[in-house]
Amino acid sequence: MATPNRWQLWRLGVFLAALAPLVSWGWQVASNAAGPEPGRYLLLNLGLGALWMLLLTLSLTPLTKLTRWKGFALIRRQLGLWTLAYATLHLLSYALFILGLDWGMLGSEVVKRPYIIVGMLALIGLVALGVTSNRWSMRRLGKRWKSLHKLSYSILGLVLLHFFWVVRADLREWAAYAVAAALVMATRLPPVARTLPRLRYRFSRAS
Ligand code: HEM
Repeated sequence: MATPNRWQLWRLGVFLAALAPLVSWGWQVASNAAGPEPGRYLLLNLGLGALWMLLLTLSLTPLTKLTRWKGFALIRRQLGLWTLAYATLHLLSYALFILGLDWGMLGSEVVKRPYIIVGMLALIGLVALGVTSNRWSMRRLGKRWKSLHKLSYSILGLVLLHFFWVVRADLREWAAYAVAAALVMATRLPPVARTLPRLRYRFSRAS
């Protein structure tokens, strides 16, 4: 049997690190340590987990420009798919613990909590990115692939709006995520994007 190379080990390490929160939350629920509302505990943690994954995925391109380290680019698809997985589990926990799988309730729920529509739009966007994240779609879509995957910026905006609507009464935690999102997006501004590789050059000369 061939021994895995260091990139395969790196990918495996990232996979295990991304899986770890799910195992930990599952363990907390199974051992009755998730508080009085374990369903809500899972729902909120999975929502935050999905946002973390999205922010991490979007950080990989500027990090690659800054460091030229191949490892960041190698895990981009994986982290994108983890974003989708966390968001899907977030929806499933909503369907299971809040709706009690009674889909008829969805209509009145959406009227009561319109932020659900915003979350759904974000999830539909993530599904579109997930199904087109393979090489075949890349080849078929050509230049349009890049434009399509810029949808991730709007998805980030939708998720922040969804989150804002949920926690309107206390925006401290939300503000921290909004600042992180603004930083990640700022690296896409052409003058900043152009500066990142130059910064690398300066760092490598200084060290
Ligand atoms: C079908 C799509 C979605 C539904 C039905 C949904 C539903 C919900 C619900 C019911 C809450 C909790 C509200 C409460 O406190 O009572 C919530 C919170 C949240 N959701 Fe979603 N959501 C969806 C999509 C998403 C997506 C795609 C993301 C991220 C990628 C996301 C991230 C969050 C975050 C960060 C919170 C706040 C967690 C906290 O307060 O700690 N949601 N969502």
